[in-house]
Amino acid sequence: MIERQPARDRRLPILEIAPPAPSAGRTAAEPGDERLGEFRPEPRALPAFYVWTLGCQMNRSDSEEMSGRLLAAGATEAPTMEAADLVVINTCAIRELAEAKVIGRQGHLGRLKAANPSLRIVLTGCAVRERDREGLGRRYPAVDLFLRPDEEPELIDRLGLASAQGPVGAVGATTIVGRTVVGVADHLAATRSAAVAGGTVQRSSTVSAWLPIIYGCDKTCTYCIVPFSRGPERSRPFDEIVDEAQTLAAAGFREVTLLGQNVNSYGHDLPVESRFGHVRTARWAGRQLDLGSRPDLAELIRAIDGIRTADGAPAIPRLRFITSHPWDLSDRLIEALADCPSVCEALHLPVQSGDDDVLRRMGRQYTTEHYLERLAKIRAAVPGITISTDIIVGFCGETEAQFERTLRFLESVRYDQVFAAAYSERPGTPATHLPDDVQAAEKRRRLNALLALQEPIGLERNRAWLGRDVEVLVDTVARERSHDHDEPEAVGQEMAGEGSGPGGVRPGPGEVALSGRTRGNKLVHLAGPTDWLGRLVTVRVQHAGPYALRGKPRADGVAELHLGDLGRMASQPSVSDLGGRAPTGR
Ligand code: SAH
Ligand code: SF4
Ligand code: F3S
Repeated sequence: MIERQPARDRRLPILEIAPPAPSAGRTAAEPGDERLGEFRPEPRALPAFYVWTLGCQMNRSDSEEMSGRLLAAGATEAPTMEAADLVVINTCAIRELAEAKVIGRQGHLGRLKAANPSLRIVLTGCAVRERDREGLGRRYPAVDLFLRPDEEPELIDRLGLASAQGPVGAVGATTIVGRTVVGVADHLAATRSAAVAGGTVQRSSTVSAWLPIIYGCDKTCTYCIVPFSRGPERSRPFDEIVDEAQTLAAAGFREVTLLGQNVNSYGHDLPVESRFGHVRTARWAGRQLDLGSRPDLAELIRAIDGIRTADGAPAIPRLRFITSHPWDLSDRLIEALADCPSVCEALHLPVQSGDDDVLRRMGRQYTTEHYLERLAKIRAAVPGITISTDIIVGFCGETEAQFERTLRFLESVRYDQVFAAAYSERPGTPATHLPDDVQAAEKRRRLNALLALQEPIGLERNRAWLGRDVEVLVDTVARERSHDHDEPEAVGQEMAGEGSGPGGVRPGPGEVALSGRTRGNKLVHLAGPTDWLGRLVTVRVQHAGPYALRGKPRADGVAELHLGDLGRMASQPSVSDLGGRAPTGR
């Protein structure tokens, strides 16, 4: 079954990791030393909170931090929004519909407040932009407190919750276009490490972890709201990231995804250091900027890959990163991908359009020729690498011929996966000065045409895996599709075959339908016991559909659980409502 819905909010297309069971709720940790008990806040005075997260992995990662701070302050997690007395909404603004989804819930939230006058509602994420703060109260009448994404570390203090939080760091940063301040961000980069050191990141998976490395975005893609929402780029210090990776490795995480809107520009804003003297790199921004002697993504990947177990294997077996802007994808990075065994053979490289005029109007900084040159180099360096992309159809002034060029581009590149969306005008972005002149019905037609073209290509790419053994990191106990989560847009939902269970899997006695990802980020359905969650299982691929594979685990192909996993896995079963879904873009 393929879903062809226009413009919904969607997530970045890397990992869909099993979140904790939605009905579970979480309680604040008891202090290990009982003498500390008297310093615990009065439990009844503290709220039961519910975090509603929309959007991409960056938001999910931020929500993990917010949940962790609330739990550390002594609050408990409510199983549902209706049972909560603090609702935190982490919004996405990438397309109009993403914002509309939350605006549309204001009536419901208002009724909840009428029924529970102590209910407080906080709204954060990308819908909170400094430039139109005044308008927020009108758009979101049920909300009590608005926080920009970088203000999220203030959540506890702003709510007046007693907490033992460290001081909030302040690193001023603004994005200025012309003379207008378009994005403001003061915090986050400095407070993340405090949260990690304090153990207050409430990770939603015990298998895979997100690791933010750079906040904000300095690109000025004309259609995009992100630089306005998230402010300018702020790289986290190199050693703090490596420390966090070390903590994750020690805790037994099998997979780490480095996060940033453009991870390829990591490090350009960090100070020069002699230990990075060998890093020679430059970037064009009107003129050539020398960015040497600072860490870059390649350096960071090599350092994390260099965290090894006693037997010399990478302590984190799977390392991913997202998202890469094609313009900043350096030779140094390509070399690191080829050299580092932990780096997964998958790259998400958004192209947005296959037409150079459209790319120019989008402000993407590269031509299709440049993109193809980078791609050829990556494919030569990492044979068999999985490549996925994002496309926007119906951008301002996109003619039929220009759209056709995008289709031909997809035909020639042969992506493993394409995340497509209809252009949605975002207030305040540079593209609002261009006429949004492709009609909604025509955008939908183009979206459907593009998906119809891509589907057999995806199938062909997946069929190449038939009969082969793949290493699957099992991250999900699949269950029948539920309808109350964010749906992906414009990407397929697949039942990989004709079987009865999720993903076409027929579990035997003592088995359930499981799914996980290959190193190449292919979704694989399989049957097995629940205790395979978090393990690397070798699977012989027996069926390939356009969006997922299905296979039979090899009897000898189940890796041991990493030490340290067991206790946490048992106490926090991961049951996902995402079983069988294709990876989704944001
Ligand atoms: N920083 C990443 C991701 C940005 S948002 C990158 O540069 O690739 C994820 C995707 O949303 C984008 O790649 C783009 O395809 C899509 N997108 C962004 N703004 C949009 C808009 N106004 N309308 C439709 N799609 C949009
Ligand atoms: Fe948006 Fe472009 Fe930045 Fe991606 S690189 S977040 S598309 S401005
Ligand atoms: Fe949405 Fe913000 Fe992510 S706009 S896609 S939540 S960066």
